[in-house]
Amino acid sequence: MIAAADFNIKKVERSKLENINLSNLPFGKYFTDHMFEADYENGEWKNLAIKPYQPLLLEPSLAALHYGQAIFEGIKAYKTKGGDAYIFRPIDNFKRFNISAQRMQMPEIPEDIFMEGLRTLVQLDKNWIPDQPDHSLYIRPFMFSSDELIGVRPSEKYKFLIILSPTGPYYNTPMRIYVEEKYVRAVNGGVGYAKAAGNYGAAMLATAEAKKLGYDQVLWTDAIKHEYVQECGTMNVFFIIGDKAITPDLNSGTILAGVTRDSVITVLGEMGLTIEERPLNILEVIEAYHSGTLREVFGTGTAATISLIKELKYKEFVMNFDPQSCKVANEVKNRMNQIRYGIIPDNHGWMYKI
Ligand code: COI
Repeated sequence: MIAAADFNIKKVERSKLENINLSNLPFGKYFTDHMFEADYENGEWKNLAIKPYQPLLLEPSLAALHYGQAIFEGIKAYKTKGGDAYIFRPIDNFKRFNISAQRMQMPEIPEDIFMEGLRTLVQLDKNWIPDQPDHSLYIRPFMFSSDELIGVRPSEKYKFLIILSPTGPYYNTPMRIYVEEKYVRAVNGGVGYAKAAGNYGAAMLATAEAKKLGYDQVLWTDAIKHEYVQECGTMNVFFIIGDKAITPDLNSGTILAGVTRDSVITVLGEMGLTIEERPLNILEVIEAYHSGTLREVFGTGTAATISLIKELKYKEFVMNFDPQSCKVANEVKNRMNQIRYGIIPDNHGWMYKI
């Protein structure tokens, strides 16, 4: 069992924190004083270290740069009103990280290295956790292949790192969404359920085209008929129709099993909504809009938390939603925030104390 004492820990002489204002932060721009690093070689994880945040020295032939064996996670740490530091559901992200690793033919990371690395690093940099509303410390664990060889095969060497970024809201305002029918994010048998770096790069062209048309993000649809909704930008998506909350199910392997998605399903159930995880055709969404039962649409994700959608455009048809009356999304957001900031008890064991 790995413990912090097994890490080679080198601390900064002087914290950068004094030069940074931890309010009104953009997402993912600033990084804390330290990072965690480990190497995989000859079938084992070694060189477990916490060191000052610094550049990596890499060969141009590095396998990950050529063939994309690269995966990551997104987790958040919060400071409660009592000043304690907690990480939100890190074990779930750990499990998903290894699911991504399996899909990309990468080695799994043992739970004790992942969790103890995370815990020790966040503990060391816990003064960086902002306490402003909608702010948190975003935790980014990631792994990439590090063979210096451009032959196409799974690498033999890998690097695992964790970096921390004090951060504000990902989306500031309710979003305008374009229902994507040309480009595809994921297909059955593909890597949609994995948090593979390439999924995000491959999504950028569609997003850029939607932005040119004045939209913030796309709503991905299935690769065959372009009718079944999948994800929204980098988020899972929920539709409130009548007293039901409907979100695409995970069975096709095209949807990321969001930790926020799972938490929102639990909270919506507690609010008395009926949850349906199932394939959802955009035509059903439109029908519900026409009949007046489609009340709200929102996205969920670690970075984005809960993001309201104010407009959804499918072909020439535009659906509008008044963000002021998105009661369900706002209530879920409040309840989740109250748990995260320690205002109401965490009855689910979601908050992992540092
Ligand atoms: C997250 O929600 O953590 C994500 O991974 C989305 C994005 C920042 C890549």
